[in-house]
Amino acid sequence: MVPITVSLKVNGVERQVQTAPNRRLLDVLRDDLGLMGTKEGCGIGECGACTVLMNGRKVNSCMVLAGQAEGALVVTIEGLGGPDERLHPLQRAFIEAGAVQCGFCTPGMIMSAADLLEKNPAPSDEEIKSAVAGNICRCGAYAQIIDAVKLAAGLMKGPGQGSKTAAS
Ligand code: FES
Ligand code: FES
Repeated sequence: MVPITVSLKVNGVERQVQTAPNRRLLDVLRDDLGLMGTKEGCGIGECGACTVLMNGRKVNSCMVLAGQAEGALVVTIEGLGGPDERLHPLQRAFIEAGAVQCGFCTPGMIMSAADLLEKNPAPSDEEIKSAVAGNICRCGAYAQIIDAVKLAAGLMKGPGQGSKTAAS
């Protein structure tokens, strides 16, 4: 298979990768760029473990071909806090609320929550549930996850807090 060259901006850094055309954005992030925070669960778009932001919208990176990410702005869990590697308020809130158990779902869950809070800074419980409906937590930490998103929404009202676009 003839390789393709894909140029994209990941967590604020311009990257260029050569890859087989049938590889996925998830593969590029994890295997080529070493960004292991994005997880692979189902590989078929059903678990949300691989969620990242692409051009300001959440996507399942297992369902995006590398070539579809040409020219894209991608933010992964590693870049959510911005270039100074602070923890994003969502990351702090997930820790504080006990929403991280085994942690496998956590990066994808946080990226979905970041997408929500960017559009809706004060979501209701129902809106949070709906936003993370595509993210499966096998540990069943959903109550703590909802608490964490509400806590983060409060933290993000404060001055100087980061947003998902910090690394874009
Ligand atoms: Fe992508 Fe499950 S690994 S949705
Ligand atoms: Fe274990 Fe969600 S914390 S899968």
